[in-house]
Formats: sequence, structure tokens, C-alpha cells
Amino acid sequence: MSSCDSLPDLGRKVYIVTGGNSEILVFSFLYQACQNSIEQSVLHNRSSSTACRTCYSLEIDHLSLATVVSSAKLFLAKETALHGLANNAGIMATTFRISKEGHEAQWQTNYLAPWVFISRLLLLMLKTSKGLPSRSVRIVNLSSSGHYSAPKGGINFSDTSLPDASNLTHYDQSKLANVLHTKTLNQLYGPDWPSAAAAGNGEIWTTAAHPGLIESNLGVKAEMPSGFFVERHKSVRRSGGRWDGDRGA
Ligand SMILES: NC(=O)c1ccc[n+]([C@@H]2O[C@H](COP(=O)([O-])OP(=O)(O)OC[C@H]3O[C@@H](n4cnc5c(N)ncnc54)[C@H](OP(=O)(O)O)[C@@H]3O)[C@@H](O)[C@H]2O)c1
Repeated sequence: MSSCDSLPDLGRKVYIVTGGNSEILVFSFLYQACQNSIEQSVLHNRSSSTACRTCYSLEIDHLSLATVVSSAKLFLAKETALHGLANNAGIMATTFRISKEGHEAQWQTNYLAPWVFISRLLLLMLKTSKGLPSRSVRIVNLSSSGHYSAPKGGINFSDTSLPDASNLTHYDQSKLANVLHTKTLNQLYGPDWPSAAAAGNGEIWTTAAHPGLIESNLGVKAEMPSGFFVERHKSVRRSGGRWDGDRGA
């Protein structure tokens, strides 16, 4: 049985998931969409190639915030509701690089781009939630247990590019940012927070999720300075602790 078999009926709902080629995404999302149980589902890819009857793709590159904004605008021009947004696209421990917008690549891909994207879609999500049962509208930010290994002082706001840190530390800092962003969104818009309930402007349930150690392309693209990460994955695999995309979903 796939994990998708236990999902409730998602008919007449609109979802966006970023990172259209991810293993985790394929199981959690495309599978359902192609079974026709999701009314509208929007895949975000770097190139818009994936599409099916209920599913279409929008082009987005997290390393270009301009495409993040234009993609959100395009979506807002097409749709009148958004029930779920899964910020799944991400990179890990890639070679140090500064984007043309001046940010370290993992910081921008994993945190800044989702932040911009969410901010553009918030109003529509709040509007969508009005009149629906509590917790109907959701944001899921794919984080990682790596956030526990972020720099001890937390996010280095004086220079988020962390020029002297390892590739993996850049990832860990970006994933801590996902967790903190999630907490803030909950405080501002979550159903359990008085500010959201009192405002009567709708609510959004937001969570950060670590999917487990999943077989995917994430580690393939990682460039680690030592064999530490590879060895850690090997030992986890030997003990049966590395999961496929379905279980991660
Ligand atoms: N796998 C794990 O063990 C694990 C553990 C903890 C957390 N996570 C998190 O789970 C999420 C999904 O990871 P995954 O394991 O499924 O990795 P994956 O197979 O490498 O998928 C990552 C997805 O992100 C997309 N992406 C990367 N850079 C992008 C950019 N600049 N613009 C737009 N899309 C971009 C990739 O597109 P392209 O194919 O075009 O590059 C791909 O679709 C990530 O946020 C990751 O941090 C994974």
C-alpha cells in the first residue's frame, strides 16, 4: 500500500508543490494528481515539462527571485483558491556559490525563494480558508533534522553567506531558517494563535517536516569536503534506515 492510499479525498482543492523532479514529490503529489483526486495541482519545475489532466507546471528557478515573483503572479492570474503549498524544492551541501542576486545558493534556494513565494500567496491562502473548517489551508515547509546542526548562535544575520563554513553548514543554516519561518507563520496566521483567530481574516496551518533519510538526488549533488556524509548514509542504509520516496512522503 502506498502512503497516498491513506489520504482523504482532495477533490476540488488546489495545491502547489515546488521541486517537480524530487523523489519525495513524485510520491506525495504527482501520484495523487494523476489519479484525479486533486482538482488542480501545480508543479513548479525549473523547466515546465511535466503536465497531466489535473496537473500543470509553472517554471521557477529559486536562484532567480524574479522568476519566483513572476511564477506567483502567473498563478494568481489563473487561480482563485490555494489550499496547500508544499515548499519541497531544495539543494544540499552544494559547492559554495553566490547567486546573481547576491545570496549564498543554498540560503536562497532553500529559504529566501520559498519566503518570497509564500509572501506572494499568503493573501490568497487566507482568503481560501474563510468559510472552511479550521486547518483546511496548509503550508508544508520541507525542512531537515540538519537544522539541529546549524551554527550554535543561530542564523548569522550579519553575513548569511557564511564564507568560512562548510557546504553542509550552509544547508543546516537554511533549514533552521525554514523552521523559524514556519514558527513565525504560525504565530501570525496559525489557528492556535489569538492574533489569527481574532483578526477574522482567515488562517493558515503551517508545519516544517523532516521526511527521513530518503533515497533521492539530494545527496548526489552534494559536494562534501570529507567522506563523512557519504559514510553516514552508508551506515544508515546498512541498518535499513534509509527510505524510499513513498515512505518519505
Ligand atoms: N532526501 C532526504 O533524505 C531529505 C532529508 C531531509 C530533508 N529533505 C528535504 O526534502 C526536500 C526534497 O528533497 P529531495 O530529497 O526530494 O531532493 P531531490 O530529489 O534532489 O529534489 C530536489 C528538487 O528541488 C529542485 N530544485 C533544486 N534547485 C532548484 C532551483 N534553483 N529552483 C527550483 N527547483 C530547484 C530540483 O529540481 P532539479 O531536478 O531541476 O534540480 C528537484 O526537483 C528538500 O527541501 C530537502 O532539503 C530531504
